[in-house]
Amino acid sequence: MSNPKRYNPWLVVIHWATALLIILNLLAGTFVLKWMPNDAAKIMPLASHMTIGILILVLTLFRIVIRRATPTPAPATTGNSFLDKIGVATHILLYLGALGMGISGVGLALQSGLFSSVYGGTGAIPPDFYAYPVRTGHGFAATALIGLVLLHIGAALYHQVIRKDGLMSRMTIGKD
Ligand code: HEM
Repeated sequence: MSNPKRYNPWLVVIHWATALLIILNLLAGTFVLKWMPNDAAKIMPLASHMTIGILILVLTLFRIVIRRATPTPAPATTGNSFLDKIGVATHILLYLGALGMGISGVGLALQSGLFSSVYGGTGAIPPDFYAYPVRTGHGFAATALIGLVLLHIGAALYHQVIRKDGLMSRMTIGKD
């Protein structure tokens, strides 16, 4: 059977939903949460950050299962085998980055008792998240993920604008 022209519609929906949610959580974490004092006013922003983060984790796990179970378009090419290898590596690292952020975030919340503070209403936030080593891991993973997302967007633009090969249509829902 020949390769389809597009990814499975569920993969397309999860791709764009998680792209939006990951960028939202990266921006909110980097520019808002990190700088807020750990007082009662931080509970709401933490609740939305944690809920979105857990949703990203669950959607990414679903995505990996669906990706393995459905036929995918033929591997994309840039005409340069080194760049093609970087493309494949970037996609694997993006999956690992999304999973790593979710897992380290849940680990931090478990260690610091955030689940009962945020969802259970106890409202107690630890004075400093950096007291838990996993907070440093969550920060490093965030920096790596920002780099990967920028690389991914740059590569998509390269295909669309310079090579004009219509690669983005693979990540859209259509009849063919
Ligand atoms: C893909 C999912 C996620 C992304 C993209 C993300 C992103 C971020 C970023 C960028 C930061 C600031 C890091 C820094 O610059 O040092 C941060 C901090 C944090 N994140 Fe996440 N996160 C995700 C998932 C989660 C989850 C699932 C939880 C908990 C259930 C969580 C809890 C936290 C907490 C508690 C902080 C510390 C805030 C502070 O230092 O005041 N994150 N996150």
